[in-house]
Amino acid sequence: MYLTKSVLLLCLFVSPYLHATSPPAPKQTAIYSNMSIHHPVWAKQAMVSTQEALATQIGLDILKQGGNAVDAAVAVGYALAVTLPRAGNLGGGGFMLIYLNKDQKSIAIDYREKAPAKAFRDMYLTKEGKVQKQLSRYHGLAVGIPGTVMGLELARKKYGTLSREKLIAPALKLATEGIIVSPDLANSLNNAQPRLSKWPSSQTIFYKEKGKNYQVGESLKQLDLANSLKAISEQGEKAFYQGEIAKKIVQSVQQAGGLITLDDMKNYQAIEREAIKGDYRGYQVLSMPPPSSGGIHIVQLLNMLENYPLAEYGFNSAQTIHLMSESMRRIYADRATYLGDSDFVNIPIKTLTSKSYAKKLVAQINPDKASDSLDISAGKIAPYESNETTHFSIVDKWGNAVSNTYTLNFSYGTGLVAKGTGILLNNEMDDFSAKPGTPNGYGLIGGEANAIQPNKRPLSSMSPTILLKDNQPYLVTGTPGGARIITTTLQIILNVIDHKMNIAQATAVPRIHHQWLPDYIRYEQGISPDTLMRLKAKGHKLKMQATMGSTQTILRNESGVYGASDPRTPSALSLGY
Ligand code: DON
Repeated sequence: MYLTKSVLLLCLFVSPYLHATSPPAPKQTAIYSNMSIHHPVWAKQAMVSTQEALATQIGLDILKQGGNAVDAAVAVGYALAVTLPRAGNLGGGGFMLIYLNKDQKSIAIDYREKAPAKAFRDMYLTKEGKVQKQLSRYHGLAVGIPGTVMGLELARKKYGTLSREKLIAPALKLATEGIIVSPDLANSLNNAQPRLSKWPSSQTIFYKEKGKNYQVGESLKQLDLANSLKAISEQGEKAFYQGEIAKKIVQSVQQAGGLITLDDMKNYQAIEREAIKGDYRGYQVLSMPPPSSGGIHIVQLLNMLENYPLAEYGFNSAQTIHLMSESMRRIYADRATYLGDSDFVNIPIKTLTSKSYAKKLVAQINPDKASDSLDISAGKIAPYESNETTHFSIVDKWGNAVSNTYTLNFSYGTGLVAKGTGILLNNEMDDFSAKPGTPNGYGLIGGEANAIQPNKRPLSSMSPTILLKDNQPYLVTGTPGGARIITTTLQIILNVIDHKMNIAQATAVPRIHHQWLPDYIRYEQGISPDTLMRLKAKGHKLKMQATMGSTQTILRNESGVYGASDPRTPSALSLGY
């Protein structure tokens, strides 16, 4: 490892100011090396990393105005509903993992969507038992009871310090005055047109007359959404769950054939849960518990991979990829069998996250030969769909950290805007197992544990994650990407801890993914052909596919805070002060 001159200068510059406002940060200098091509954004005290530049700026403004990381997260959550309509949302749900530095306390807020009370197990099956994918994806029946507004309000009331009005104001302004359409937004609206313009309530907002697309540089106003934000700003979550907005959502969903009722809306609650905890090579790992599968499986993967000298094997060497893939295929087999909403099913969390169970799985892995997923368990193969979710990470000057992932599920969810609200509705019901053994939109197989039941939450892969070093936030990360969320988050951790990359480098380098079924390693462009040959020789099937994930990561240590927004997403940005 080489220290460049600029880094030494940076350390000299920073040191007198360290610890001015926050407890001591982990003692590990950011890894600057003249081997790195990519470098993170550095700031002295605080950082915001999101998938969209305007939202990042809003989060930063809130921090500069004295808000804490939770305040900034709430403002960013509302802002992304305006600026990143394909994934930011009021009509979806997600998870927020908070670490309060002074109290050394973690909080996992579950604001995942719920199945309506009238939902039932076979609601997507024909009489002959065939799954009708259209119904769980692009129909009123696809919509789960939204959780985002309740989740953001719970976070703000309990852990924030600023008023609702103040935190919603920037989003309200952008919805009212309009946002400039970026190439990223223009492209995504263009791609989504067939789905969105099917619904007149969506068509009128996201497309100009006669279905013409917005061009780059034009202004997109969302006036109905502005009215909804105003009502929430004035009356709080009640406006969404019991007022006019609730009525309009119920009306639109029912007109589209769905089951959500006013009672469903009124009864929705966000839930504080205990984070999943693990440790990896001296770092404490905090991540999301069920109904996300993310935390359990990230800890399980780390427990397995801890048994190997990955640093010695080398980043993305054939041996490292082989061991990662073999571990991944096993945890996805477990996911299909054991995971669901823990309020409805018993999940063997202790076993799944234990070091001894990991050792048993590791013992099955042949270092020289790929396994066959069908020997591990049975299932069918499904294609991947295009999709979108969004993650943001925030660290404030006190060292509090927020890691938040939320979603409409697919890009723009069902594509249906609840008429008169400007609010896009999710298609999260597709994350349930419509029929055991039949894959969902991400090719994920689900079992009995993730079958549909009234008021149950569909199983998720979203994995907002925080690593601590000596009880201080060290790494705050997460990503969208459906099934790839767990493996992408894992690779950020391995790249930083094992392969000693700075977080920008850790973010940019090519990723791989294996999810048990379909039985192949999916990889990004940039893995060496020689490595691929070696993997083939071990018996792996391999497919190069589109890039995976959009990680938003912050690393905090004694020299400051470092942000890295995934270069795979054109509009992503990290900013700090
Ligand atoms: O909760 C889940 O696991 C999925 N609904 C997430 C969808 C997603 O990440 C799509 N993004 N790329």
